[in-house]
Amino acid sequence: AATVTYEAENATISQGAVNSDHAGFTGTGFVNYDNLTGSYVQWPVSVAADGSTTLTLRFANGTTTARPMAIAVDGTTVATPSFAGTGAWTTWATTAVTATLTAGAHTVRATATTANGGPNVDSLTV
Ligand code: GCU
Ligand code: CA
Repeated sequence: AATVTYEAENATISQGAVNSDHAGFTGTGFVNYDNLTGSYVQWPVSVAADGSTTLTLRFANGTTTARPMAIAVDGTTVATPSFAGTGAWTTWATTAVTATLTAGAHTVRATATTANGGPNVDSLTV
């Protein structure tokens, strides 16, 4: 099915900032999560059909420590990927999770679960 990319810099940001100082992002920037537990980005998304949906996060982590986040759909955590180091803040990678969604509008929230905060996040593709 067709996918839509939702830029992090256009989403709802809690305890983070839009930055553009590390090349390779799409759109106009990326979200630099504040380095603390609980910082998040939340996107409103739309799904065309009921069923298994792939949620793909594009991120960079220039450290050697993973920065896990809870991925929640409509407030329920569906996955807790680790977001391992990518080698540099300018090296972007993707992590995909799947969730079963109904057709229509939903929210996807990616919340940092450690005191390091999240990785830098560029976008969510649904
Ligand atoms: C550096 C980097 C930021 C990143 C931060 C972090 O300051 O420039 O983009 O978010 O490290 O460790 O979270
Ligand atoms: Ca940060």
